[in-house]
Amino acid sequence: MTDNLSLINRARAAFPQITPAIGAFAAVDEQGGDSFAAIRDTAAILTATNDLIPPLYQRADATDERVLAWVDALASSSVPNQYSKVPYLKGGPSLLLLGPTGVGKTYQAYGALRRLSIIGIGCAPAAASITDVFAKMRPRPGVDSEAVFASYAASKLLFLDDLGAAKSTEWTEEVTYRLVNYRYEHQLPTVFTSNAAPKELGERVGERVASRLMEMTQRVVIKGADRRLGGAA
Ligand SMILES: Nc1ncnc2c1ncn2[C@@H]1O[C@H](COP(=O)(O)OP(=O)(O)OP(=O)(O)O)[C@@H](O)[C@H]1O
Ligand SMILES: [Mg+2]
Repeated sequence: MTDNLSLINRARAAFPQITPAIGAFAAVDEQGGDSFAAIRDTAAILTATNDLIPPLYQRADATDERVLAWVDALASSSVPNQYSKVPYLKGGPSLLLLGPTGVGKTYQAYGALRRLSIIGIGCAPAAASITDVFAKMRPRPGVDSEAVFASYAASKLLFLDDLGAAKSTEWTEEVTYRLVNYRYEHQLPTVFTSNAAPKELGERVGERVASRLMEMTQRVVIKGADRRLGGAA
């Protein structure tokens, strides 16, 4: 319990501007909850998100105010668990981050997932570049492509990076459409990124995918230079 508490406190200390969903675990008892369960659940949320994030983005923070507004919207529509009082994601808007190579789309997206976990919102996220989803789904012996598909499509919160980045084939178009359409029909919050220019999006991902993205997401265009080339603003 002490370990869990210090893990939570250390993680949150790095983000003093964030108001944790549960500020004082002892107070959970007064609300008719179980403070031990609250600490355990909150620690599990932090660990689950941490384990998902590649080393390069382990310290990423969402700094774009439009991305922060999306984090707030998700946090405020989450609902507390009956026993631990830890809030869990319950639907919410999706986000589409657009912008050229290297401006920080993936950084903002992982930063947003980290913030949600540090605030203390449970959402068991999944995250992958869509090119990795294609690679994992590619039909071959011993692989259940539909199970791989479902592990992303049905996730409570999904970060799907690099839409329209892979060379498209009929099969990749179908998988992209099915993934986006599943998220769309089930109204599941999703962060998408693409380095397509807004006007090119339809051409890059297909008009039916682009149309759904336009309806379901808050669109954020990130401008600037390629940070990998040392041209950061
Ligand atoms: N706000 C930031 N502060 C510090 N470093 C950043 C920030 N945003 C991005 N970076 C760093 O800049 C590099 C490029 O960022 P990122 O990978 O997010 O770009 P991207 O827009 O996703 O590019 P691509 O379109 O090629 O996928 C990474 O090393 C990332 O860690
Ligand atoms: Mg990226």
